[in-house]
Amino acid sequence: MNLKITNELLIQSAKKYQNNSTAKYSHFKVGAALLDNNGQIYGGCNVESSSYGLTICAERVALTKAISEGIKNFNKIAIVGPNNDFCPPCGACRQLLYDYAPDLEIILTNNNEMKSIKLSDLLPFAFEEKKLKNL
Ligand code: THU
Repeated sequence: MNLKITNELLIQSAKKYQNNSTAKYSHFKVGAALLDNNGQIYGGCNVESSSYGLTICAERVALTKAISEGIKNFNKIAIVGPNNDFCPPCGACRQLLYDYAPDLEIILTNNNEMKSIKLSDLLPFAFEEKKLKNL
């Protein structure tokens, strides 16, 4: 398992990916580091567009990167923002992460303390795949 990857290390990794953010419009650079169940990290940064609505969040970049590599089981994700405040995932990211990793742990920091939150606590009463079968 991934006992070697500490939360501190995952945060450090998210900061590394944050450097690649193209937050040209919002100037709000975000980095994410998604850890799979084999101890592998998939990083992401927000990628912004001149057509603002096309912007993709760091979390979804990390997730789609991992999924495209065939990864199916996820353990936790660290997310870092550009200031000394926690950067919790937006609603769209909560949903997509929940679709693929409902048991995910979310690690946040404000550069002073670290918070660990379960995704299921951030998205209670979630819409999910099994609802689609209830026709
Ligand atoms: N952003 C993320 O990458 N992740 C979040 O969870 C919150 C918001 C990005 C989107 C946009 O590029 C910028 O932050 C400001 O909203």
